[in-house]
Amino acid sequence: MSEKKVLSYSDSILEAGGSMSRFPLIPVQGVPLMNHIADNWDSISAFEPHPSDLLIATYPKAGTTWTQEIVDLLLNDGDQEVCHRAPIVVRMPFLEIFSPPPVPSGLDLLKEMPPPRVIKTHLPFQLVPQGFWKNKCKTIYVARNAKDNLVSYFHFDRMNQTQPEPGPWDSYIPKFMEGKLAWGSWYDHVKGYWKEREKNNILYLFYEDMKENPRREVERIMRYLGKSLPDDVISRIVELTSFKAMKENPMVNYTFIPVPVFDQSISPFMRKGEVGDWNNHFTQEQSRVFDEDYEIQMKGSNIPFRINI
Ligand code: A3P
Repeated sequence: MSEKKVLSYSDSILEAGGSMSRFPLIPVQGVPLMNHIADNWDSISAFEPHPSDLLIATYPKAGTTWTQEIVDLLLNDGDQEVCHRAPIVVRMPFLEIFSPPPVPSGLDLLKEMPPPRVIKTHLPFQLVPQGFWKNKCKTIYVARNAKDNLVSYFHFDRMNQTQPEPGPWDSYIPKFMEGKLAWGSWYDHVKGYWKEREKNNILYLFYEDMKENPRREVERIMRYLGKSLPDDVISRIVELTSFKAMKENPMVNYTFIPVPVFDQSISPFMRKGEVGDWNNHFTQEQSRVFDEDYEIQMKGSNIPFRINI
């Protein structure tokens, strides 16, 4: 009997080859998701987490990978070697991701992993499998100000050959404002988790706070996880999760996702890692139109976003 070949994540993408393409978006309960996710929606929404599982939820490009690496280091007492055990996509499965075979889905990876697991999702609150709330799983949500989030997503869509073509910058802005990008409306996403944060014990973090004072936010996450680590370990974690360190770390900088999926010669995954890069992208008029619409879409919400620090 021939043994089943175990492929690395990178090799599975290379083997999927030509079937990896810019996938169309299909609405799931009104939220546009990649067709492979939409096609497998029933099994995704039926996922039953263990009460000890931890969820990291974000709108795409809000600082997911940064938070994941902080969490992994905290859970492993700052042990750099342990956190180099596998690419971040394998260490912390992406709940809803489905790609053409033989790329393992998030659910495939989760099946092989005993709890407690750390699970990544970009799903808006209302689409997260109910089991997470029923089982009172800890959840960390990271939000990033709309303009920087949009800029980061634009460059990501240029380089990620499985997302729809971003098109030119000036036509990308209305797509973001209208919630037409993958995973839908940024506005609904950040408001959805904000509304539920107290009832569901969600730790709601801001990218801008993490940039302003990374140590303070690492400590905040540590307390939420119920850990207490010595000062020097916390300092090491802050250092290992700086933008510079993560850009050079092959287990988090997404160089493990090869062309034809991530073409980092177009734009690197670890692109700039700054607050306020939107100033280099929006014209005054684009900013005015965006702000006017923002007021309407965010009316009545009091989420303390900062667009400059
Ligand atoms: P930019 O495109 O603005 O550089 P996600 O992990 O959710 O996809 O988010 C990616 C964004 O987070 C990118 O933003 C990336 O550079 C930034 N990022 C990743 N690691 C970071 C770190 N350690 N410090 C600051 N920003 C980081």
